[in-house]
Parts: sequence; structure tokens; C-alpha cells
Amino acid sequence: MPAAAHMIRTIGNHVFHLATQDSSYVIEIAGGVVPTLRYWGRRLDADPSGDAVGVAGAGPDGRRLAELNVDAPYRINAGKRLQRLQLEGLRLEYGVQGSGDFRRPALHALDAEAFPIPQLVYRSHRVLSGKPELAGLPSARTAAGEATLELELADEVSGLRVVLSYTPHESQNIIARHVRVENDGEQPLVLDRVMSASVGFAPGALDTVTLTGAWAGERHVTRAPLATGVFATESTRGTSSHIANPFLALAERNAYEAHGDVYAAVLVYSGNFLAEVDASLPQSPRLNIGINPFEFRWRLDPGEAFTSPEALLAYSGDGLSGMSRCFHSVIAECIVPEHWTRRERPVVLNSWEAQYFEVGEEAFLELADSAAKVGVEYVVLDDGWFGTRNGDDSSLGDWQENPWKLPTGIDGLAHEVHARGLGFGLWVEPEMISPVSELYNAHPDWCLHIPGRERGAEAPLGRNQLVLDLSREEVQEWMIGTFSELFARAGLDYVKWDMNRYLAPVASPALSAERRGEVAHRYVLGLYRVLSVLRGRFPDVLFESCAGGGGRFDAGMLAFMPQTWTSDNTDAVSRLFIQYGTSFVFPPVTMGAHVSAVPNHQVGRSTPLATRGAVAMSASFGYEADLREWSDADRDEVRRQIEFYRRFRTLIQFGRFTRLESPFEGNRAAWMFTDEGARQVLLFVSRIRGEVSAAEPPVRLRELAAGGLYEVSLAYGDASPSGEDGSAPADDYGMYRAAELENHGFPVRLPVGDYVSRVYNLHRVD
Ligand code: DGJ
Repeated sequence: MPAAAHMIRTIGNHVFHLATQDSSYVIEIAGGVVPTLRYWGRRLDADPSGDAVGVAGAGPDGRRLAELNVDAPYRINAGKRLQRLQLEGLRLEYGVQGSGDFRRPALHALDAEAFPIPQLVYRSHRVLSGKPELAGLPSARTAAGEATLELELADEVSGLRVVLSYTPHESQNIIARHVRVENDGEQPLVLDRVMSASVGFAPGALDTVTLTGAWAGERHVTRAPLATGVFATESTRGTSSHIANPFLALAERNAYEAHGDVYAAVLVYSGNFLAEVDASLPQSPRLNIGINPFEFRWRLDPGEAFTSPEALLAYSGDGLSGMSRCFHSVIAECIVPEHWTRRERPVVLNSWEAQYFEVGEEAFLELADSAAKVGVEYVVLDDGWFGTRNGDDSSLGDWQENPWKLPTGIDGLAHEVHARGLGFGLWVEPEMISPVSELYNAHPDWCLHIPGRERGAEAPLGRNQLVLDLSREEVQEWMIGTFSELFARAGLDYVKWDMNRYLAPVASPALSAERRGEVAHRYVLGLYRVLSVLRGRFPDVLFESCAGGGGRFDAGMLAFMPQTWTSDNTDAVSRLFIQYGTSFVFPPVTMGAHVSAVPNHQVGRSTPLATRGAVAMSASFGYEADLREWSDADRDEVRRQIEFYRRFRTLIQFGRFTRLESPFEGNRAAWMFTDEGARQVLLFVSRIRGEVSAAEPPVRLRELAAGGLYEVSLAYGDASPSGEDGSAPADDYGMYRAAELENHGFPVRLPVGDYVSRVYNLHRVD
């Protein structure tokens, strides 16, 4: 056993205790043949090298197993090979369709005759140092000393072998799981469903928590009691999507932000996903997460292996905030490219809402000048700079600059931008092809399509475009070559990688008939291959992923691109909701957030500049507006915002983020950033509708240093006094003890009016 393995403890032959700093996950091989979950929750023992309290006692063949097989006359037993276990009574780690366990399975596999493969028998286990590579898929990096438990299961008849892989990420409090399915037989097999993780729960009142939404309204928090039946959140659109996010939590009914048990799963994947809870037997709900079986059927020839994406499992005894802390730390420390984990993100100005398709070298350089004057660090040229693209109806695929718009070329423009002391970024949408493009004329077969049906401009279009067939290696090669050349020639510091269409039809004539069900997943694998080559060639380039805003905000993309354009909706009030929901899984540093003009281009609302600033400054910050047209007073305010952000950038981008008040539940949103030891705290408070200020409740902080004395002052925002007539006092700035701030709260007195935000500085003085 490697020295690394101290977080994986084998007890007897058939019990495995996986520990993280604060959680335990205990697997027991029931009857010596079927892996089951014995315990998942708060860490069982303080000493990782000892047997877990309460685990060492009962053996797998002893009393507990008998209890699990209590007489249930209508249950089916699993046959002799599986010791006649009644699988429906067990918290299975990897249930198989056809086994007599009727809950939604983890695996559905068929043999060459299309008969189901109804059973898997535990064969062996091993502990490996680190984590094996997930073929072609991103996964969380392990730290020195971490290890992986592999459980090998097999079906002797068909030769199907399944390896369940578990890696405890100690300080992030995450158990990472994935599955490798191998065909050791002589005949081809078919996989119809391969979940990355399956978890059996004990009975109890649970709520589902998911992130749902739409374009321009992504990742709203949805919480509902888990009812008898099947609950699912999923994407069938080819990307993780605006509609749902590959995340599902089960929260104890009385769990809330800061307390209670929460069990959650995130899939490190950017395509179709399914996260479901089968609670058709309310006494034994099961959570599954993995690739969506919709549009999925994988042929496994003899000797071939299939690897599932990684699922990250988090248990928190400290409510939803504790859950988010697990996901924030694993994403920020183990998923985002290592090069970027502690590298500060620049303040950017993006040209989209400033100039849309009206691209021109002169106008862009004027915009850059206006940006440089107020302290912006990078300028990003968005859509419309290439081919004949004057709208969204052409040129995707023709990645040559338009010489009338950019007479000195993209390299000439980059040179000018750099001469102004600014970094230069460029928008691209590599995965798409316009039917009106030279690329389409040259390669009409390179898009996803069904032969014999409408093609080109007559095919089903989304935003006037088609999707390149990334399951084809030649398309991947073209993409790698084209964008390597472009990024190098332009000397880019930043790339915004957009993707503005879901996948339909999911069809590639390049694959044989029996492999047609592999297109959606092969698309994602092709994308990951392209991204990993480009990432390796351009490690210093800051990549921002985007899909019509936040249509592909997932841990898979973050493994290549450290930030995502959170939403096309830049309205500050809408963003309170979107960013609050996004923070359930993703740390603020991964969220692109920009101040834009008013009235807002998406929702038509006018919010104060200070509010737009405070909301956008809670993330990776920038602007999306034509500053040339702004008043001197507004430009001065922008300068103050950037100064403020740069001063507190390390805290905001790499500090601890805690949600305090939800806009989904009231008229305010509040959150805070805290440094190590809580010496420095920034508190962000936003009120949506104006209310009589005397009725404003204090904001209760959390996670301050016990006994600490804090000086509270206004860090950013409108300092005018509150009260309808403006006569009430400004906030009660001054000294507060941590206990007072936590138990009573800080008495904010926001100015009158709608849509106000303030940022408070809490500095520990003792
Ligand atoms: C969609 C993106 O989300 C926008 O920010 C912008 O880049 C447009 N595409 C450009 O077409």
C-alpha cells in the first residue's frame, strides 16, 4: 500500500473507509460480492490510521447482512452467484439493470445478442498512488500523498469488467468517483447507460437543490421536497446548457446555508448529463450522476475500454455554504489549470455591448484608449472582426481578419494595443460553421448532419449556424492548426471561446451505423482534445469560455479555461440572482462579470453605476460598454471602481466566499469575502427595491475570527445618508465584536431608492 493511502483504510476484507478532512465514505462489500454504501457523512474517526469507530464491528457476512435481507416477499433475489441477495434492500454502489433491483441503474450493458448483462460480482480491490488518468477527460488533480481505491467487478459470462474508482481529496472534502468499463470477452458489447457515480441513501426527509434557468437567466436556485418517484435534472442539448447545470444536492429538510447535512454531486463534464434521484422506494432513494443515456449508446469491442467522466461528491455538515466551500476549493485548486490557480485575473473591457458587429481598427483603438485612461488592463475584441461578418449570418469558419475593418491585420491591431500598455484579447467561436462561409463551401461534410436531408442554409439552423463535427479527427486537426496559427500570430493574452448553438441533429456520417450513438460524447472528447492541445501551447493565455453567456458553465470547461462568461445578461439585478446561484458550485474567480451601460441592453433596467460596479466586482471583473460616450463623472467613478478592485483583487479572487442573504428569498442579496484568519473581510450588500430604510434589518455575518474586534467602514458605494428625506444617519461605522456582527448583525442603512449596493470593509484590529 503506498504511503499515500492513509485516507483509505481497509477494514477486514470487505470494508473500506475513505476519509477526507471532515467526511467519511464507507463502502462494504455485501456478502463479499456486491459493493454497498455503509456510511457517508461527518468524519467517523479523528485518527485516519485507526479503524473507524462503528465500522470495525459488524462483518459483511454477519448480522447486518441478515438484517438487510429481511423478508420482503415480492423482492427478487439476485441468484446464486450473488448469494441470493435482495438487491433492492441494499444501498448499492453500482446497480445493474436487469438484476432484480428495479431502481434506475448505474449501468445498462448488453451482450452481442442484445441480452442484458444483469449482474456484476466483486472480484478484487487495489489502492494506487494518486489517480489514474481518465482517458481524454478532465479530472481533479491529486495532491502529494493522495491515493485512489479501485474496486474491480466482473461478469464472467460476457467478459464485462467494471472498475469503480474512488479518490478522497483530503483538504477539499471531496470524494471523486469515476468508472472504467472494459470488454475482456470475445464479442462486442453495448453500453446504454454508464453512470459516473451512484449513491444509495437511507430514508429521511430530503430536499433536492438544483441550478436551473434559461438563456440570460442561468443557474437560479431551485429547491423542492424530494417526493416519491423519480426526480431528474439534465441536459439533452449537447452542452451542459443554460437550462440545467451538472449539479444536484440532497439537503436534509432543515439544512440551510450554515447548518445541516447536505450531500451533493457535480459532474466534471460539458455535454449531456443526467443527475437523478430515484425515490420510487422512499426508504432507499438513490442518486445517479453521469452522461445522459439520451443520445448515448457506446459499442465496446473486445479489448476496448470506456471511461466515464468524473463525479465530485461532497458531504457538508455545515449546510449549503459548507457544500459550496468543498466545490469552490476543488475547482479553484484542483480543476482550473495549475498555471492559473493563484494568478490574478486582469480587469478587462470587452467590445461586444460597446460596438457589437461595428468593428473597425480606429474605433477599437479609441475604445482601448478610453479604457487605458481609467485603469483597464486588457481589451477584448468580440465578434465581427473576421470574414465578411457584419451580423450573425455568415463567416464562422473563415478565421481571417477582414482587411477593410482591420487594415493592419490582427497582428497590427495587437501591436497597437500592446503599445498602449494593455493586454489584447480576441473572440472566437471555433466549434461552429456558417453555411455562408468559405469553410462550408470547402467542407460541407464537416458539420453534424444526416445525409439525404436538408443541408447548408436549408438545414435546421440555430443563430444561422451549424455545428462542426468534432467527433472527426480531421476537424479537430483543422481546429488545432487554425487557432494555433491565429493565437500565435496575434500574440494574444486572452481568448474568449464562444459557442452559440446546441447540438441537433446529433449525427455524424463519419461513424459507422453501430457507433452512431457515440456522437454526442465523441464531440465532447474531441473538444477536450483540441482544448488540451491549445492549452498546452498557450499556457499564458487567459481563456474565457462562453456559450451564449453561461450555457456551458461547468467544471469540465474550467479544467481548460479558468473562467466563464457567466451570462449574456449584464443587468446588475439579474446578475445578483445568477451569480448567487452560480456560487453554489463555482468560486467567484471563475465568473466573468462586467459593468455595462444603462438602460441595460437585455432587460432595459437602469441601475446606479455603483451598484453595477459592486455586483461585477464580486467576480472576475470588467466592462462591456463604450466608455468614450460616458460622462466625465461616470468615467471617474469607473476609475475608482478599478482602483478599489485592484486593491482588494487578491481577496476577491482567492479569498473565502460566503453567501449571507439570498435574493431568491428576500429583497436583498449579501455575501462576503474573507482572508485566511478572517483579518480582512469585504461585505457586499445589495437591496433590490427601495424600502423605508428604518425597516432595514441588520446583515448577520459569519465565519469571523472568534472574539475578534472589527473596524467597519464603507469601502465602496454611495455614501449618502438613508431615510426618505435623506435625514437618517449613515451606517453605524465603528468597532464591533465578531459575536455582535454574527449574532445581531451589522446595521446597514442603505441610501433611498431602488437597486442600491454598498461594500463594507471589516478590518480586524486586535
Ligand atoms: C454570445 C456571447 O455570449 C456574447 O457575449 C457575444 O460574444 C456574442 N455571442 C457575440 O456573437
